[in-house]
Amino acid sequence: MSSAAPPPAEPEAGVTEIITVDQLDRAVEVLADGGLVAFPTETVYGLGADAESSAAVSAVFEAKGRPAGHPLIVHVASARQIDRWAVDIDDRARLLAAEFWPGPLTIILRRSDVVAPEAVGGRDTIGLRVPDHPATLELLNRFDGGLAGPSANRFGHVSPTAAQHVVDDLDGRVDLVLDGGPARVGLESTIVEVLDGPVTLLRPGGVSVEAIQALVGEPVVDGRDGQSRAAGMLASHYAPSAPVMVVAGHSEVELTDGDVVIASGLPEAEGLHRTISLGGDAASFAQGLYAALRQADAMGATRIVIVPPSTGPLLPAVLDRLLKASAPRP
Ligand code: TXA
Ligand code: MG
Repeated sequence: MSSAAPPPAEPEAGVTEIITVDQLDRAVEVLADGGLVAFPTETVYGLGADAESSAAVSAVFEAKGRPAGHPLIVHVASARQIDRWAVDIDDRARLLAAEFWPGPLTIILRRSDVVAPEAVGGRDTIGLRVPDHPATLELLNRFDGGLAGPSANRFGHVSPTAAQHVVDDLDGRVDLVLDGGPARVGLESTIVEVLDGPVTLLRPGGVSVEAIQALVGEPVVDGRDGQSRAAGMLASHYAPSAPVMVVAGHSEVELTDGDVVIASGLPEAEGLHRTISLGGDAASFAQGLYAALRQADAMGATRIVIVPPSTGPLLPAVLDRLLKASAPRP
């Protein structure tokens, strides 16, 4: 008789607790014990662990099902922390931090030896960010450390923009979820590498390339081609269960019963197919996009047809995520 290895034990459901911003002390305690706390940010919810603890950071990779080589962003309380986590810091990085932190910008720098090597996937660089959410800033101050935190979703899935999304993906795999309300930006941070060469964009997000160029006074190089340096640079990512198709207008495609349409700036038209209507400009579309993708899955969509917005500074970030959500799955 052949005995197949038993499947790994699934964590117990219903054990992850959502706490409120009045219960920060409990979150601090869990983090200090090496546990995992999902935290709100203005972009998406993060899955936080003590960035100086190899064991805590390894638990993040396990909870997400994230391959070990993919580095995590380290969240810190203020730009003053930059010198603790990074070395050889370029003036352009300091300018960017002073202007855009707290905010949706991650800066890749040469790392110091404070961070657990597992957090940065064994690299000699570190992605740093000060998130713009009052409860998480307070949490970081009280914890008095850095939080290694990827988006708090299963690897490859849609990022969470509400506390319940975290529980839907990671129940039993994370100790606490700090509920800070819906995410204001709704898409992950802009990532730029600021080392010796030109400022290089690794992922578009809530801070536009134009704003970065205006501040540093030099062109930003697009680093998204070439080798997959960021997990969000993998072809298929940010993906719901149903296949995604992006069209310029909903009349461009013949809709079938299983379809759910997510459309920018379309009034909830009478008689139109099952439609989730989002804002007309890229910023308001971005804010609702991930919740809409989750909702479409929950509606049993066999295909998600998306009509994207056409204006707004967040447009490159929106189109980037739609490209990945609609890419062929591995
Ligand atoms: O808005 C965000 O950035 C959210 C919130 C929670 O802060 N976080 C987030 O994390 O999106 P995650 O792990 O899902 O995506 C982080 C990206 C990955 O693509 C990772 O490869 C890249 O940042 N990254 C982190 N550290 C890096 C490094 N040292 N070099 C290159 N890429 C890095
Ligand atoms: Mg992610």
